[in-house]
Amino acid sequence: MSDQGHMLHADPRQVKAGNWPDDGSADEKLLFLLQYAVLAPSILNSQPWRFSVGDGTVTLSEDRTRRLRSVDQHGREALISCGGALFNLRTAACSFGAEPEIDLLAEAEAPAIATIRLGEAAAQASEEDRRLRDAIPERRTVRGRFEDRPIPSEFLDHLQEAAAAEGARLAWSDDVERRREVASVVAEAERTHLSDPRYRDELRDWLRDRRREHHDSLREVYARMGNPAGRTSVQPARPDEVTMNAASLMRGFAAADTAAARQQAQVEASPLVALLVTAGDTSADWLAAGQALQRVLLTATAEGISASYLNPPIEQPRLRPRLAEIFGVTGHPQVLLRFGYHAPASPTPRRPLHEVVSFEAPHE
Ligand SMILES: Cc1cc2nc3c(=O)[nH]c(=O)nc-3n(C[C@H](O)[C@H](O)[C@H](O)COP(=O)(O)O)c2cc1C
Repeated sequence: MSDQGHMLHADPRQVKAGNWPDDGSADEKLLFLLQYAVLAPSILNSQPWRFSVGDGTVTLSEDRTRRLRSVDQHGREALISCGGALFNLRTAACSFGAEPEIDLLAEAEAPAIATIRLGEAAAQASEEDRRLRDAIPERRTVRGRFEDRPIPSEFLDHLQEAAAAEGARLAWSDDVERRREVASVVAEAERTHLSDPRYRDELRDWLRDRRREHHDSLREVYARMGNPAGRTSVQPARPDEVTMNAASLMRGFAAADTAAARQQAQVEASPLVALLVTAGDTSADWLAAGQALQRVLLTATAEGISASYLNPPIEQPRLRPRLAEIFGVTGHPQVLLRFGYHAPASPTPRRPLHEVVSFEAPHE
């Protein structure tokens, strides 16, 4: 198989910086970089992105068929996910000395989001870019309880700087009372979500569809359903190992209260809760939030710190302002996280590039 054919069918997680095609064509380089792009986190591991490659340019678009309609009607979390992929692509390109030119497209061009072209001249890669690039395959969402160990304060400055560098703000708290308040809002949101039949139906359909695809993680679905199988330790290794009958799904949902209580205890016991906020709430802000999120997560990964998401309250318009109040910030909450020390989580699968990349015919 040619190098290009190999990249299209390989598991993107196997990407190795040492294989950078220094002498390859611009399209080969872009394809190589896309292996980093698709390792971004995404809501329900939906991987809601598409890439069109040709003439040395890649166009990133949202794949709207993968949007979660019940909790993400306007595509806010899908665009945050795409922002993470854009950040990975940018950072990996810079780390190989191929500084990209990026054009963010106007909303009228949606679902297309941005075009990325690699600069002609070789640029000097910074140590920071290489550090963040190397953290891309190492970053994993964890869902368990963190170790009872505080996070050093200088590290918190790094996280805030990372968010600010991408035009967002990260507010954090290690105060016990504040963590309790956050935990109680998260528990309220979990209960509201799980009592909504549209939400439950969408999670159920999502599970069935992903099971057919074999490439997507079910972990967040189980975590959100409150099914004990959501605990990483008993997570089935392959989606088709899950018994997918209606009875087992309903048993999972029936555990809503238990799930909310477990989540609440985990939040209260986390060394740190943090809220990523943007000044506006447009699609451009969501894309910026995704880039900021990914810079924050990779900065944390590089320092051996793990993150876990608590996004249900942000998915409910009624609870979103409450979070801003608790953290004492103005602006629009985009992602709620907890941080701490945790044993490495096992990796989630990604779709290979041939499922997300198309090629444009060369222009005359
Ligand atoms: C915008 C956004 C919201 C998310 N919300 C949640 C959440 O509420 N609960 C959860 O367990 N995971 C959440 N996740 C994490 C995804 O489930 C995770 O990124 C995905 O399964 C891929 O796994 P990985 O992050 O380990 O690569 C969220 C991710 C994104 C980007």
